[in-house]
Amino acid sequence: MKKASILLLVLMLILVGCQSDEVTKTEVNTSETETVDTKDTEEIEVEEVVEEEVKEPFVVNPESLRAKAAEHGIYIGAAVSMGDFGFDNYLNTLFNEYSMMTTENLMKWDRISAVKRGSYNFVAPDMILQHAKDHDMVMRGHAIVWHDSRPDWLKVAWTKEELTEVLEEYIEDVMGHFKGEIHSWDVLNEIISDENGAFRESRWYEIMGTDYIRVALIKAREVDPNAKLIINDYSIEEINPKSDALYELAKELIDEGVPLDGIGFQSHLVSGGIDFDSMQANIDRFQELGLEVQFTEIDIRVLAPFTEERMAVQKEDYKQLMKMALDNDIDTFVLWGVSDTQSWVPMWFQDYGSPLIFDNVYEKKGGYYGMMEALEEHEQ
Ligand code: XIL
Repeated sequence: MKKASILLLVLMLILVGCQSDEVTKTEVNTSETETVDTKDTEEIEVEEVVEEEVKEPFVVNPESLRAKAAEHGIYIGAAVSMGDFGFDNYLNTLFNEYSMMTTENLMKWDRISAVKRGSYNFVAPDMILQHAKDHDMVMRGHAIVWHDSRPDWLKVAWTKEELTEVLEEYIEDVMGHFKGEIHSWDVLNEIISDENGAFRESRWYEIMGTDYIRVALIKAREVDPNAKLIINDYSIEEINPKSDALYELAKELIDEGVPLDGIGFQSHLVSGGIDFDSMQANIDRFQELGLEVQFTEIDIRVLAPFTEERMAVQKEDYKQLMKMALDNDIDTFVLWGVSDTQSWVPMWFQDYGSPLIFDNVYEKKGGYYGMMEALEEHEQ
């Protein structure tokens, strides 16, 4: 009697095991209706409800800045931060007026790999990338090597060999993660110093000499061959010792066959003080090397108080800058923030402000209309 009941129990357990096994298998199956043979028991039908989220296609307003610029093959970009994604007026302006995004800080080394070597936090950049895709926007990657963005773990005393390995591994992991999704990467950021165009004396330079530049570019090309590889810097928009030095470096790299696609003019500019002729000559010489020029971090700061006259000058500056993009086939016109609310300018440049094309309540400013005028006046 006892034996018989144990046997029965074992048999039941085996049957239950068989059933649940088979049913689980069909649950992960995607077909809609399936007849499942549960071997020794009866046939059961599993009805699968396949729920596919249907996303409304995003429609670009043909009157928007991004639409007008797209007619000329130009992306209007904005630097973005995750914290702002909770605000409707921010999102409306970002998605409707801009067609490109750069993360202002989130894809810098000290953010993406803050804790330890080989450990990464891609959550926020991935979310932003998804927003970009959902709204027909493209992404720039900013930035791989920047002296100002090094987590503590990167500050130890590496040998040249070790640091080379760390750099290659980082590029492999980070650029590899975003492979195929990034329009351009700022592979090197701010590598020329302000003093007479010498190389910036960063830890990279101290340990690796200028080899870190080559290592980074070569590895970057290998990891994401579709991304444009950019050297990005400020105060190189006009002809001066700093842009001369960058020009010489670019020439050297090209001669050596090191992969490089373009130069990012950050374009943190001062209203009323831009020498557009010098800028044109500078663009010419880089383009003659076969490189492209991108405007990657535009803001045109105004000295307070922001009088009507000063704002009219800023409007003209934005118009000229857009004209410059149009005349030189520059496809990347990125503003360093969606609206004045997000701008780093008031915090970093005393007495200056009002640098962008939307004000603190997301109203269009003169700069916006200046850019529109340039686009409308330009022959297609
Ligand atoms: C700035 C950000 O706007 C600030 O929020 C941050 O505190 C410091 O960095 N050149 C660059 C950008 O390449 O990464 C900098 O961004 C501005 C200057």
